Amino acid sequence: MSTNEHPTVLVVDFGSSYAQTLARRVRDAEVYSEVVPRNITTAELLGRKPAALIFAGDLSVLEPTAEEPGLFDLSALAAEFPVVLVGADDEVVTTITSGERREVPVEEFDRAALERVLFEDAEIEATWTAEAIAAQLIAEVREQVGQDRVILGLSGGVDSSVVAALINEAVGDQLTCVFVDHGLLRQGEREQVEEEFAAALGINLVTIDAEERFLEKLRGVAEPERKRKIIGEEFIRVFEDAQRDLEAAAHGSEHEYRFLAQGTIYPDVIESGVGEGVNNIKSHHNVGGLPDDVQFELVEPLRTLFKDEVRDLGRVLGVPESIVSRQPFPGPGLGVRVVGTLDKERLDTLRAADYIVREELTESGMDEHIWQCPVVLLADVRSVGVFDGERTYGHPIVLRPIMSTDGMTADWVRIPFDILSEISDRITAEVPGVNRVVLDITPKPPATIEWE
Ligand code: XMP
Repeated sequence: MSTNEHPTVLVVDFGSSYAQTLARRVRDAEVYSEVVPRNITTAELLGRKPAALIFAGDLSVLEPTAEEPGLFDLSALAAEFPVVLVGADDEVVTTITSGERREVPVEEFDRAALERVLFEDAEIEATWTAEAIAAQLIAEVREQVGQDRVILGLSGGVDSSVVAALINEAVGDQLTCVFVDHGLLRQGEREQVEEEFAAALGINLVTIDAEERFLEKLRGVAEPERKRKIIGEEFIRVFEDAQRDLEAAAHGSEHEYRFLAQGTIYPDVIESGVGEGVNNIKSHHNVGGLPDDVQFELVEPLRTLFKDEVRDLGRVLGVPESIVSRQPFPGPGLGVRVVGTLDKERLDTLRAADYIVREELTESGMDEHIWQCPVVLLADVRSVGVFDGERTYGHPIVLRPIMSTDGMTADWVRIPFDILSEISDRITAEVPGVNRVVLDITPKPPATIEWE
């Protein structure tokens, strides 16, 4: 984890589901916080000189018994800085009394309790603001990159866009972004990345037109996991070709491409298992699956940040709101939202329907109530309809509006009927080949968010 000048609160994770949440809440209070694993030692904790320490999770192992001294020397720690034990109600028992130490059941450790610890007990100054984060990360990128060049795979998603803006701010023209148009993008997405984002911020961008290449590879493939695999592999090939071209162009010049930037964020790092030599496990999967045998040094300036911090940082750096507040979108794009085989016509049909849905949801103010709304084309299903007195035999479009916090579980959103009605009217009137619109009302589990 990067070193920084900001006072730091360490959250020692005892296998709790809330260590990450606590660290996030500390950051929300504009104080830097990190999750550390339970195998850290008392000496290491003292050495990190945290401003406060929070133990989160199953606390029973902390208590000394007749045989075991307990995992940490809590008295030594509590003598140096405030120590808070946050556990389930029945686990919070007091046996150690020296120094400043609080024990709180997790349900009582609310914002007010946290702020008492941070600002009254530990007397921390709140310095972890988006502006401070930007200044620090820009300085770190400059130091790491020096005069050399950086390649970044830009997906149009929040994380890669914010990294691009950050590195551009730090080293300007030394950065080149590569955006792969695989033909599975949403309507207007390419223009958004090229114009609203890269051109507006003055970022070097190379767009690779790879639609034909992808559709050729995907021809006749209906099985979802095969689609994913083909899209992932082809993405790597296209990216490698672009990378080779860039390297060849820079070859012999004073400064070569030495760095590959990625939008790895803190939850990716934590989920890989903090602190146990895990730093690179997930990072290569971040931009839709980049090569594993990367010969570049990685630049991952967002790896200490939570998603909300990434969004705030993006705003400070001038990334357009349309990108900063973008809904999650799967790496394989619309490729996994056409149920059946893929071709340009089917993708165009889905693109048109998806665009109408997004437009109507935004206009009716529903965006803040919806985490993600996949729009799915059932390309192999047909049903009978009637249009202008003529019989039609068209495809259904499925709407899947869901609310979630992390995508692991989800519920469907009760969109008002008049909005649904408008969406249905517009899709059936404006999108050729679609004569029916249906609403998916299944939570996750048992259904996944995506249909494929
Ligand atoms: P599921 O369908 O598994 O989706 O409930 C959970 C979240 O993950 C996204 N998703 C993907 N993202 N590559 C991605 O980058 C994929 O292959 C993929 N499949 C699903 C999905 O959009 C939802 O946010």
